[in-house]
Amino acid sequence: MEGRMTRRMLIAGNWKMNGLRQSLVFMEEIRDVANSRADLDILVAPPATLIERAARIAGPVKIAGQDCHTEQSGAHTGDISADMLKDAGASHVILGHSERRADHNEHSAMVRAKALSALSAGLIPVICVGESEAERRAGTAELVVGQQLADSLPDRSGYVIAYEPVWAIGTGLTASLDDIAAMHGFIRSKVPGGSDVQLLYGGSVKPENASGILSIGDVDGALVGGASLEAASFAAIIEAAPIRFAS
Ligand code: PGA
Repeated sequence: MEGRMTRRMLIAGNWKMNGLRQSLVFMEEIRDVANSRADLDILVAPPATLIERAARIAGPVKIAGQDCHTEQSGAHTGDISADMLKDAGASHVILGHSERRADHNEHSAMVRAKALSALSAGLIPVICVGESEAERRAGTAELVVGQQLADSLPDRSGYVIAYEPVWAIGTGLTASLDDIAAMHGFIRSKVPGGSDVQLLYGGSVKPENASGILSIGDVDGALVGGASLEAASFAAIIEAAPIRFAS
């Protein structure tokens, strides 16, 4: 579609609550892959404890936080602000992941406030949306995702969106290519300036299914959980991304 050629592919790995200092060997291996695929963006979201160390050895690999507070500083024990993530070397922050929506009662208005905070700190928010299995079965997936977008997106540009059907995360199930294409087309039509927004798919992306998913025109990359914990599988997903334009 028009505008497609202006969007770079982005392959993002979300380590969730995994990773100790020894896991940083991974960064060196992924850095080598990134050096050979300068046509696309590679992003790694390690736990907050590793962000600064990871950023120091990341080379062209970009680093993300997995959440931030709505405020930049203050009396919020245990929280991390967007300014702090930026200061530690992050360029992006994942916001509104379904695990945070479920485990920490994060609702879309909070996600929007966090996204604004991230943008003002100079971070790119990766805003996650996605329906539950019951919502998909009930035929309300677009309604739910449309509402999440309306309530979560800030009224400023500069964000990335990740569509992650909740039932596909960590389950080994993925949405069908037709369903992914339909939902991505829907999301793009709902987002202001949609043809320029990087739109990722997430939910059990693996080396075996990456090429089919990443070849869908409206899919600009992947947000990868489990398969991003091993350098070999994350590298295979990166290699499966089509070259959209020469770097
Ligand atoms: P998964 O996780 O690849 O393990 O399904 C994706 C995510 O939660 O971002």
